[in-house]
Amino acid sequence: MPAMGQTVQPASPGILEVDALFPRNETYTPQAAMPIVLAVQNPSLLRPLGAIFSWDLWEGDNYSSPGSIQQGAFDVKSMDFISNNTALITEFINTISYPDGYWTLYWSLQIDTCLQHGNSSFQHFQPIYVNSSTVFTISKTGQAPNVVAATSSDTCGSASAFAFNATSFEEFEFCGWLGSTPTTNPCSATINATVASSILAEGTTTACALKNPNVTCPAYHRSSASSANLNGRFAVVTASTLVAMLVIVIHL
Ligand SMILES: *[C@@H]1O[C@H](CO)[C@@H](O)[C@H](O)[C@H]1NC(C)=O
Ligand SMILES: *[C@@H]1O[C@H](CO)[C@@H](O)[C@H](O)[C@H]1NC(C)=O
Ligand SMILES: *[C@@H]1O[C@H](CO)[C@@H](O)[C@H](O)[C@H]1NC(C)=O
Ligand SMILES: *[C@@H]1O[C@H](CO)[C@@H](O)[C@H](O)[C@H]1NC(C)=O
Ligand SMILES: *[C@@H]1O[C@H](CO)[C@@H](O)[C@H](O)[C@H]1NC(C)=O
Ligand SMILES: *[C@@H]1O[C@H](CO)[C@@H](O)[C@H](O)[C@H]1NC(C)=O
Ligand SMILES: *[C@@H]1O[C@H](CO)[C@@H](O)[C@H](O)[C@H]1NC(C)=O
Ligand SMILES: *[C@@H]1O[C@H](CO)[C@@H](O)[C@H](O)[C@H]1NC(C)=O
Repeated sequence: MPAMGQTVQPASPGILEVDALFPRNETYTPQAAMPIVLAVQNPSLLRPLGAIFSWDLWEGDNYSSPGSIQQGAFDVKSMDFISNNTALITEFINTISYPDGYWTLYWSLQIDTCLQHGNSSFQHFQPIYVNSSTVFTISKTGQAPNVVAATSSDTCGSASAFAFNATSFEEFEFCGWLGSTPTTNPCSATINATVASSILAEGTTTACALKNPNVTCPAYHRSSASSANLNGRFAVVTASTLVAMLVIVIHL
């Protein structure tokens, strides 16, 4: 929850859309840094809507299998919260030692819809939750992850996506008044080769920061490259279990 008394930048009405771009329902070879990629269309609406993301990953039906991840945090430190441009949220998982089998990536998003005009003295908003799961397979006979192919014109339309039509906001609340639910348009969030190679490079940086021996690291490695781009904005997102209270911290 944002601290009481904090104000948000005046928000413009618009459509917030979140698209699950990667992984897809495909079979991938084990990777030292396999990307998880969500796209946020119109990220300027994330803070005014009090958005909270979380993710979990598990093997098959086993929430406690080795390699399972709970309380997954989407690192949005370097996101431009002012822009209307599509932003990518990327995380990387090390699947090198994952046994062959199918895996479920579950992610959820909470936003707050206003209930009545008011201020922070009372809770005048109500959370809305959406979630989605992607099942993918890890196999030594699979294909390498390809985020360009996953968002190509013939596959982009099947990405799971949610959109919200924020028509106005309450000044002292992190909530929005929502209009009719818009249709989603995940094909607006395609990834080209240039962006894909920067995702790859980010994965390498992440794996090198974790001193992963299976990655060839650049000679000069700046583990703080992304934090140099904070612009004073920072968000940490965690979720302890699928049903637990979710917590977000946004320092303006
Ligand atoms: C995933 O792909 C497999 C093989 O193409 C297909 O049988 C299965 O129905 C797909 N699952 C979903 C949830 O789309
Ligand atoms: C899930 O994985 C854990 C850790 O490997 C194992 O102890 C447990 O038996 C597994 N549960 C099932 C139902 O396979
Ligand atoms: C974002 O879009 C809205 C609606 O089109 C516009 O009013 C606002 O100025 C835009 N903000 C930026 C930073 O471009
Ligand atoms: C919030 O509303 C209450 C009741 O209307 C009022 O007493 C209080 O001063 C308001 N607080 C702020 C920060 O506007
Ligand atoms: C995910 O959303 C569906 C509705 O689309 C809901 O029935 C389900 O309970 C949600 N799952 C969790 C873990 O919140
Ligand atoms: C957003 O909601 C408003 C008010 O309900 C509606 O007029 C507008 O057409 C909606 N926009 C979209 C893209 O659905
Ligand atoms: C790739 O996509 C990015 C982000 O959408 C864009 O800024 C860039 O111009 C594109 N590059 C090429 C070569 O199309
Ligand atoms: C590196 O690769 C080896 C062989 O595949 C594997 O056993 C080991 O767990 C990997 N190390 C890490 C940190 O992923």
